[in-house]
Amino acid sequence: MDERQLALIRRLSDGRSHSGEAIAREFGLTRAAVWKTLRKTADAFGLELISERGRGYRLATPLELLDAGRIRATLSESGRAHLSRLDIHPVIDSTNRELMRLAAEGAPSGSVCLAERQTAGRGRRGREWVSPFGVNVYLSLLWRYPFAPSNLGGASLAVGAVLAAVLSELTDEGVALKWPNDLLWQRRKLAGLLLEVAGESQGPCHLVVGLGLNLRMTAGQGSAIDQPWAGLEEALGGVMVGRNALVACLLEALLEALDRYGREGLAPFLPLWRAHDAYLGAPVRLLLGERVIEGIHAGVADDGSLLLDTSDGRRAFQAGEVSLRPLESQIQ
Ligand code: BTN
Repeated sequence: MDERQLALIRRLSDGRSHSGEAIAREFGLTRAAVWKTLRKTADAFGLELISERGRGYRLATPLELLDAGRIRATLSESGRAHLSRLDIHPVIDSTNRELMRLAAEGAPSGSVCLAERQTAGRGRRGREWVSPFGVNVYLSLLWRYPFAPSNLGGASLAVGAVLAAVLSELTDEGVALKWPNDLLWQRRKLAGLLLEVAGESQGPCHLVVGLGLNLRMTAGQGSAIDQPWAGLEEALGGVMVGRNALVACLLEALLEALDRYGREGLAPFLPLWRAHDAYLGAPVRLLLGERVIEGIHAGVADDGSLLLDTSDGRRAFQAGEVSLRPLESQIQ
């Protein structure tokens, strides 16, 4: 990554106009090179640059870049105690991948990796997670457990439940969960979680929780997403969200949840999950490899599996992709 480009973005991040002269002076550029360099930088970061005659250059939308000091300062004392390491990358392949790498080198429980942009953001089922610069949250968190990885089956529901509660408090209409842990607003995807586990079969093990939360991505930036999606600012009626404060609030909840999961498992999180179930009682389809199973969504079992009332009676599933059944297929 080009350090000068990053410094230029930092300079422009306030969204105010900066004269070509001031930029030329600060960055050791000729006046003629300023426009070209800024243009190239904005293109490289996928940002919209505006040039105004007589005033200078500005970003179409201001950016609140992530800042470790501000995030730490917003955490509670217990949040700070749980957070052992906080890395912020302007650009990285994937925060989950980075944290799995660090975990293998011995990084401690409570290590966090954030990025402004991911070049190979990973979603569930091998999908790409669209990760443009500075407009969303890409966060991964490492937690170590003394027990076997098989005990982590419920962790994804626990984390989803806690995040749904945090985000619901912010939004009027509330955020709901699609099994196992998609966060939806108005039935559109607001955030996704990717949990990765490694360790000895009898324990210990470690878990990396990756959260991608859409915030203020433009339609163009999100055009590669193959399902309906929403951003948190839309869910808040257009209110600008302070990214550092938001990250601190998410971290607070996640750190506490991962610690509690280690002591108490999924049980204390189940009422929260059930309170945010998006499709309870709705006709759904479960895609299981090549198979499609239809039924009425009957909630989640105590072990976190999905319950479907099918023509063969109530069945529990540990894996699969849920979608609402379209109206026409419900009538038949
Ligand atoms: C999903 O498909 O719903 C899960 C998406 C998870 C995306 C996040 S963004 C931060 C972390 N790093 C990744 O590469 N993926 C997760």
